[in-house]
Amino acid sequence: MKDVRTGTRSQWQRKRVFIRTYGCQMNVYDSDRMADVLRPLGYALSETPEQADLVVLNTCHIRERASEKVYSELGRLRDLKSERRRDGADLTIAVAGCVAQAEGEEIIQRQPAVDIVVGPQAYHRLPELLARVARQSDDRRADGRRRPGAGVLDTEFPVDSKFDHLPAPSEADVRAGSAFLSIQEGCDKFCTFCVVPYTRGAEYSRPATAVLQEARGLVAAGAVELTLLGQNVNAYHGEGGPGSIGGSTWTLARLIRALAEIDGLVRIRYTTSHPRDMDDDLIAVHGDVPQLTPYLHLPVQSGSDRILEAMNRGHGRDHYRRLVDRLRGIRPDLALSSDFIVGFPGESDADFDDTMRLVDEIGFASAYTFKYSRRPGTPGAALGDQLAESIKTARLAALQSLLGRQQRDFNASKVGAVVPVLFAEAGRKPGQMLGKSPWLQSVYVEGGADMIGSIVNVRLLAAYALSLAGEVVTDESPSRFEVAA
Ligand code: SAH
Ligand code: SF4
Ligand code: F3S
Repeated sequence: MKDVRTGTRSQWQRKRVFIRTYGCQMNVYDSDRMADVLRPLGYALSETPEQADLVVLNTCHIRERASEKVYSELGRLRDLKSERRRDGADLTIAVAGCVAQAEGEEIIQRQPAVDIVVGPQAYHRLPELLARVARQSDDRRADGRRRPGAGVLDTEFPVDSKFDHLPAPSEADVRAGSAFLSIQEGCDKFCTFCVVPYTRGAEYSRPATAVLQEARGLVAAGAVELTLLGQNVNAYHGEGGPGSIGGSTWTLARLIRALAEIDGLVRIRYTTSHPRDMDDDLIAVHGDVPQLTPYLHLPVQSGSDRILEAMNRGHGRDHYRRLVDRLRGIRPDLALSSDFIVGFPGESDADFDDTMRLVDEIGFASAYTFKYSRRPGTPGAALGDQLAESIKTARLAALQSLLGRQQRDFNASKVGAVVPVLFAEAGRKPGQMLGKSPWLQSVYVEGGADMIGSIVNVRLLAAYALSLAGEVVTDESPSRFEVAA
């Protein structure tokens, strides 16, 4: 067999992988990295499962609905695999991500068509796992045995980090000028509703040297915008590595300042941050690093002190309010977004009113809202006073209506301004292009595909619930939004 790393495979030998991503941006990053791991084995990306030799479902376990989706998708893939086998071919099915981590054994029991189950910290070992599957199927061919649901499982949290084994990122990891960069993994906070500490493992920060190297690589590959990712990205505390100047532990603030030195990197974002980890220096960075966009996703979950405590969030509503005041004092045009959970066990009408009041006081530019979902194994699942679905539905609707109004008002407040927009893709209508403002708003203009990946000044003309319409301007620099010195 030809060495696949030589890149000289002929077309008929080429293999295809289809990766479906559920869940958060960390999973989007991981899916790209899985593609990077598979590329040297000869796998090109496929647009559909039907055209693929290998299908990877990169799954999310955060809410019940998210993980149930996986099993229905696996049912469809099993049928596809049976069809292939009838035609004398095959389909390899891999389940990755957070459901893989949480329910690995169960997946193999429930769906014997699954060949590989690989956790979010182990996917750098996909080549070995694929080789084991290939050996099993050779054995099966040799002795004609039917294989009893013998999926290969790898859900260890390895002592060494996956990041030390991943190939350098390439142009494939940059989409329309923008790239994700995972700098921190896992969570030690154990909010009582959340599965992440169990599915992603303990908090781990990548060394600053490795992050800076990957960032330079992504910028060289065409990224003008980087979004730094972590489940608790602002808990980042990376080692500086040999020769590091000024102490060995780096905070997120220090990392952002160093990233801002990279030529060609115009926008820096980070997500998701926790209110407990917004230190003074990180707040200051919002005022003095112009590349850091004036948008912060800072989930508060609830406005009730009682519920925040039951959630084990480790802060109250006043802490959150004070943080926002300080951030806005430093960066008056900062747009805030948050996640909210309604219907946590024991949430009373008064608790929910506290959430509505906090939202009213703060004013969010966007938000993600969820009904509490009881997740097996989390402390919240064992609490009494689980609320009826109808209460959750009513509270969700009320909260979404308030947040929707705030988002529309925020969008409307930018009409008339000239703002730099990073264009990402074609819009739904012919001749329309879609990009993002510095506040992560969707902006539509008339334009051509040549705009994709570039930052263009746009005058905002009309605001809608979820987007703005504008026109490209060539003769005007962006409006100045006040930034404290
Ligand atoms: N690390 C991030 C959150 C990651 S999960 C943070 O601390 O903010 C993304 C969001 O999913 C959470 O912010 C929360 O709002 C929501 N979520 C997590 N578990 C949930 C559950 N059991 N039910 C409903 N929503 C949940
Ligand atoms: Fe989940 Fe809380 Fe950790 Fe966020 S901080 S990942 S919500 S446990
Ligand atoms: Fe889902 Fe895992 Fe992300 S549970 S939200 S994919 S960390």
